[in-house]
Amino acid sequence: MERLQAAITKAREKQKGMAPQSASRQNSGPAPQSEASALWQALPEVTFNPRTLTQNRIVSMEASAEATPFDMLRTRTMRIMQEQGWKRLAVTSPTPSCGKSTIALNLAFSMARQPNTSAIQIEADMRQPSQNRLLGLSRQDRRSGSSVADLLSGQTQFSEAAIRRGNDLAFVTNEAPVRNASDILLGEGVGDVLAQIEADYQPHAMIFDMPPVLVNDDTMAFMQHVDCVLIIAAAERSTIAEIDRCERDLASQTNVLGVVLNKCHFTPSEYGSYGKYGY
Ligand SMILES: Nc1ncnc2c1ncn2[C@@H]1O[C@H](COP(=O)(O)OP(=O)(O)O)[C@@H](O)[C@H]1O
Ligand SMILES: [Mg+2]
Repeated sequence: MERLQAAITKAREKQKGMAPQSASRQNSGPAPQSEASALWQALPEVTFNPRTLTQNRIVSMEASAEATPFDMLRTRTMRIMQEQGWKRLAVTSPTPSCGKSTIALNLAFSMARQPNTSAIQIEADMRQPSQNRLLGLSRQDRRSGSSVADLLSGQTQFSEAAIRRGNDLAFVTNEAPVRNASDILLGEGVGDVLAQIEADYQPHAMIFDMPPVLVNDDTMAFMQHVDCVLIIAAAERSTIAEIDRCERDLASQTNVLGVVLNKCHFTPSEYGSYGKYGY
């Protein structure tokens, strides 16, 4: 555990001063707020079943003791992002099943509970999509055939791909896995697509639920488009070497906000049931 703590401490030594991707990539000026609100309103609205969410460890839709660790993570993350003028946050891990999708979704719900804060969640893990299941989205609720691949490659508009909860949280998920995920994440038009979404919908944050770093090139290919990244490590599963390599690779491309140590067995009173995180 000491060595794991050392890895976390290491991850605190951030690269600073990288230009915000979100600011540098806007190709058309932001729409007036009223236009952005109208665009949000035009997205199909879904409601989530709290029991299904809880069963899937998505516990941040409402304020609660279970949501508190995610609220703390949200507050720290958003504080840094606001200070730096960053809007795009990637969530990744060294290897699969560390809890990226679970934490990304909890962060998104937690952000949207903040007053005047809107978030867009994009399921960029196109090889192993899980968000439709985690969110318990019925066939009716899903945008039929919607995929992040079509969105990022410019074949589908955000307005045709996204769903919303309330007026400040939107999701684009994947119906099915895609094979050429790296090609799509590396696509030439991706930067413009993201800039256009930001200009039109003016979210305070865009959260990208990424694939794991050490399995293929997908995540590294995409880091040019984000402002910062959170690394999710699984206690007793992620090795120090994996976390270290993951952190070094990512830090060469973007700002590493920190390592979230998930799946810990600390006592809840000490650290919260979802574990401890460090910056
Ligand atoms: N803190 C946790 N404690 C126990 N199980 C967890 C925790 N976080 C996530 N899980 C479970 O681990 C599995 C993988 O989580 P997921 O978020 O899909 O990982 P990833 O997106 O990194 O592949 C899921 O079954 C999820 O419910
Ligand atoms: Mg996942």
